[in-house]
Amino acid sequence: MNEKVALITGPSRGLGEVLARRFWAAGYSLCLIARSELGLNKIVSTLPQNKGQQVISFVCNLDDKAQIAELTVRIRENVSAIDVLINNAAIHGPMGHLSDNDFSLWQRTIQVDLLAPVFLCHSFIPWMQETGGGSIINISGGGATGPRPNFSAYATAKAGLVRFSETLAEETKFYGVRVNCIAPGAMKTALLGEILDSGAAATGEREFALANMVFAEGGASMENVADLALFLASDASKGITGKLISAVWDDWKHWPEHKDDLSSSDVYTLRRIVGRDRGFIWGDK
Ligand SMILES: NC(=O)c1ccc[n+]([C@@H]2O[C@H](COP(=O)([O-])OP(=O)(O)OC[C@H]3O[C@@H](n4cnc5c(N)ncnc54)[C@H](OP(=O)(O)O)[C@@H]3O)[C@@H](O)[C@H]2O)c1
Repeated sequence: MNEKVALITGPSRGLGEVLARRFWAAGYSLCLIARSELGLNKIVSTLPQNKGQQVISFVCNLDDKAQIAELTVRIRENVSAIDVLINNAAIHGPMGHLSDNDFSLWQRTIQVDLLAPVFLCHSFIPWMQETGGGSIINISGGGATGPRPNFSAYATAKAGLVRFSETLAEETKFYGVRVNCIAPGAMKTALLGEILDSGAAATGEREFALANMVFAEGGASMENVADLALFLASDASKGITGKLISAVWDDWKHWPEHKDDLSSSDVYTLRRIVGRDRGFIWGDK
């Protein structure tokens, strides 16, 4: 592979498919990972032929630790470098109150949504270092910045992914590997459709109503998420690391003008809120 390479998990549908098509259109070679061979073939066979770019796909269940370990070896054998790693694949896991959840499904959610991305970072960061650096983009989700009842596994995994990304960003900032998270907003995908299939009794009325609204009105733009991911992959965002960025709400297009403020402050990160942040003056030091 000659061009810059983007590894994207979960490109067989939804946001991952849009990311794969947009990175391809931007000139990246692609390394794609999902469980569905059919889904992978569908995207690979419909990418327009572009000179010099290559696409390689791997069937892998990110729930299976042995398969991921084998996958990382196969990728090192078949790909020249990973310039961009996008941990996009995720599952909602069990819905409803924790005490009603099947605990093995809860654990599976942590494996797919948190431990698999961590494992891919662990495997590929040394390689990124050797090949001149790179950009890691972790897709966050509802529950990362506030409680999300009835989705405790998903919320826990996504909050963990954000804290992991902030921590990793500190560790890697001196050797050219940047790590950021994107909060994409509620999108009309199969993942959100599961909320409608599960019903309000499991998800809660609020989640159910939101999913219904997204399906009726269209939801957040996946193209907008791809614009942000391409920005985070590009040199225009050099120096920006350890941030959780909302594709819907944050004015990231102007962030290149604010790099000093971004790097010298804790804006766009997960932090504890204390009383005085909410106007309560209780004598805290
Ligand atoms: N949709 C939303 O409203 C929303 C909101 C906030 C955040 N997000 C986040 O956005 C990202 C994309 O979500 P989406 O809505 O596009 O989901 P989606 O339509 O359900 O797609 C999920 C992708 O992940 C892959 N995947 C799932 N389990 C896997 C496993 N065990 N091993 C390998 N691949 C697996 C699926 O492919 P296979 O089935 O072929 O494996 C599929 O390509 C996720 O990180 C999600 O948490 C979504």
